[in-house]
Amino acid sequence: MPSNKRVLTGITTSGIPHIGNLAGAILPAISESKKEKTSSFLFLADYHSLIKTLDPDLTHNSSFEIAACWLACGLDPKTTTFYRQSDVPHIMELAWILSCLTAKGLLNRAHAYKAAVSLNEDKNSQDPDKGITMGLFNYPILMAADILMFNADEVPVGQDQKQHLEMTRDIANRFNHHYGEVFTIPEAVISDETGILPGIDGQKMSKSYDNTIPAFIDTTKLKKLVNKIKTNSLEPGEPKDTEGCTVFSLYKAFASTEQILSMQEAYKNGISWGEAKNQLHDLLEEFISPYREEYLRISKDRGYVEQTLKEGAEKAMQVSSPILESVRKKVGIKGF
Ligand code: TRP
Repeated sequence: MPSNKRVLTGITTSGIPHIGNLAGAILPAISESKKEKTSSFLFLADYHSLIKTLDPDLTHNSSFEIAACWLACGLDPKTTTFYRQSDVPHIMELAWILSCLTAKGLLNRAHAYKAAVSLNEDKNSQDPDKGITMGLFNYPILMAADILMFNADEVPVGQDQKQHLEMTRDIANRFNHHYGEVFTIPEAVISDETGILPGIDGQKMSKSYDNTIPAFIDTTKLKKLVNKIKTNSLEPGEPKDTEGCTVFSLYKAFASTEQILSMQEAYKNGISWGEAKNQLHDLLEEFISPYREEYLRISKDRGYVEQTLKEGAEKAMQVSSPILESVRKKVGIKGF
């Protein structure tokens, strides 16, 4: 029997799930997971969170919120492998083994690390590594371990993660070449940049820019956030450009073709920003409300979420355990 294609992706648990996560990662991953020939591995990258924050409550609350979010969006824990990274210690063990054959020079070239160094250089800091942790430096190895631990075939990620996938392939090839074939060389599936949502300030929606629209806020707060979206100062009645307009880009991401056409028409006819924002709010509200209802229901049952993740980790370890066993043997860590 040919085995299913393994698709694996994770979300770092250092923020509140936002509509960009939903539209760009969570919903597409769930719909992929429902395909017959796919085995999906969807996980909470909670150890990655420590790279971004030292606030234990943030990591903990975010893990729960993102778990509940996946479930609210329709993830079926029976047909996918849904787990918390920290519940599968094999990943951390593999990360060490991989770090012992990864060139430091490879990590010196990682974008995130280089950006941190260049920030220090801009500030004329004495030490270019000032404030940079080993966690940040080693991050691509932990990500490689996440992926290789399950011999994933495909890894759907945003453009910003492309280099990490290249590094993962590099590391896997190096291992296979030195010790003998163990790892599948994973393919990155890079999401379409045109699908990336802008945040309320017009930059890419991202928790690092603090410009997100959280997925499950109530309708009043949603309205307030939508009203904050940056626009230009054109008056009602003046024709407006849809190109590069944040309100329009967000509208377009959730609207039907018909709705998009009619909004384009309204822009030409000088719709006021207030009215355009009202329409965006109504559209988002309609999109979010069924998920929000489910989210609120699931959030009340922490035991269910915990149990689901524990069972998911058991399932995950049935896959990781034999792979780690063979890795350990290959590197010479085995019984006498
Ligand atoms: N680094 C990814 C991000 O910030 C999250 C992540 C961690 C991930 N491990 C992964 C994604 C493994 C895919 C596969 O978006």
